[in-house]
Amino acid sequence: MKTIIEPFRIKVVEPIRVTTVDERRVLLARASWNLFAIHSDDVMIDLLTDSGTSAMSAEQWAAVMRGDESYAGSPSFYRFESAVRELMPFRHVIPTHQGRAAEAILFSIVGGPGRIVPSNTHFDTTRGNIEATGAVALDLVIPEARNPDDPHPFKGNMDVARLEDLLRREGRAIPLVMLTVTNNAGGGQPVSLENIRAVAEVAHRHGKPLFIDGCRFAENAWFIKCREPGQSTRTVTEIVRDMFAVADGMTMSAKKDAFANIGGWLAMNDDVLAAAARNRLILTEGFPTYGGLAGRDLDAIAIGLHEIVDEQYLKYRVRTNEYIGERLTALGIPIVRPVGGHAVFVDARSFLPHVPPLQYPGQSLAVALYELGGIRACEIGTVMFGVGPDGTESSAEMDLVRLAMPRRVYTQSHADYVVEVFEEVARTRDRLRGLRIVWQPRQLRHFTARFEPVTGD
Ligand code: F0G
Repeated sequence: MKTIIEPFRIKVVEPIRVTTVDERRVLLARASWNLFAIHSDDVMIDLLTDSGTSAMSAEQWAAVMRGDESYAGSPSFYRFESAVRELMPFRHVIPTHQGRAAEAILFSIVGGPGRIVPSNTHFDTTRGNIEATGAVALDLVIPEARNPDDPHPFKGNMDVARLEDLLRREGRAIPLVMLTVTNNAGGGQPVSLENIRAVAEVAHRHGKPLFIDGCRFAENAWFIKCREPGQSTRTVTEIVRDMFAVADGMTMSAKKDAFANIGGWLAMNDDVLAAAARNRLILTEGFPTYGGLAGRDLDAIAIGLHEIVDEQYLKYRVRTNEYIGERLTALGIPIVRPVGGHAVFVDARSFLPHVPPLQYPGQSLAVALYELGGIRACEIGTVMFGVGPDGTESSAEMDLVRLAMPRRVYTQSHADYVVEVFEEVARTRDRLRGLRIVWQPRQLRHFTARFEPVTGD
């Protein structure tokens, strides 16, 4: 097989500031070993997130110039709306400044104490917005998803039997059913078309709408094309339309699969719900034809939506992460399999078995990647999820490190470099130590906690 090349030429570049291990040791100490406190100019390869970090195309930048900043009725809005509707034909499309704003509006209307919102796995902002209203956010992903080694092709699927059971027992408390595609918090794993249809059928039979959190809808559709029986000859656009045809609404962050640096939307078919959402929008985001965005952002999203369903792009996109995953596996580095659409998740707990979960093996690995290679990744484990609602600490289900790949930003040599740094980390892994937290806030501690390396034994 020939190399799958990056299907784009580079037209504008941004220099990477090359730093040394010694410089990075000083920077780490200054940042109290929290990678969120490192300035991004001091990062060589930034894999903290794939959100808002995409390289926009020449066509998107041209569209930015076309953007019209009228307060009401801007042509930018109508170009945005028609690009969304081409893929997801919902009656109402309401722009927001990013995904969590769409979630906040939706759950301020349908949430509230006593309510339960099931999903495969809620992303943390979705969970946060549901819980902020007093409602319960419930994860009903299939059991295979909890085993990092299980090769199930659609580990983002929802457990339909558990959903049916929940709807039967607690139906009155459930305002809607959600599905996150791909399932970010579960490793960027896809949901099959069959599962989306089965979830919609059960939800509708119980009179409940299905809302899709569609942040990575194109990657999900690509996995359906590659892995689901009967789908290989269909276009990604056809598959995307099928995914959304059975849904009643969606939330979206355009910072992911729309190649935009900012933006999102809330869409639905229900007129009454849409009217309530627009009322909230005007209070918190803006007038319904711009909703917290500039006209130029709406135009960038419209073009991004045309570009994201390009199959050459999706093939390269998914292959990049698979390639890193295969090479890490060959080095004996444990990862969540199969590799997700937007990221490789490394199983830090098994990679560093001598670091106890309460000394944060994920943070220890993330710090080592930065120290040795200037790579910034994100701990998804006990630092992020280890504190219960009562403030007590226990180990999270898994201690992972996410290497999230920005779209169209890095090349294969950057990917090779990431693997080489892992090779070096693996050689010194017995010497890696855990960390202790010396200061933390009451909530969302991973963003601002201060650490100190554990020394001696
Ligand atoms: N839903 C999912 C599945 C997400 O991954 C995110 C963001 C959101 C909703 C919220 O969207 O950031 O535009 O408000 N995920 C980013 C990440 C932050 O790094 O995974 P937003």
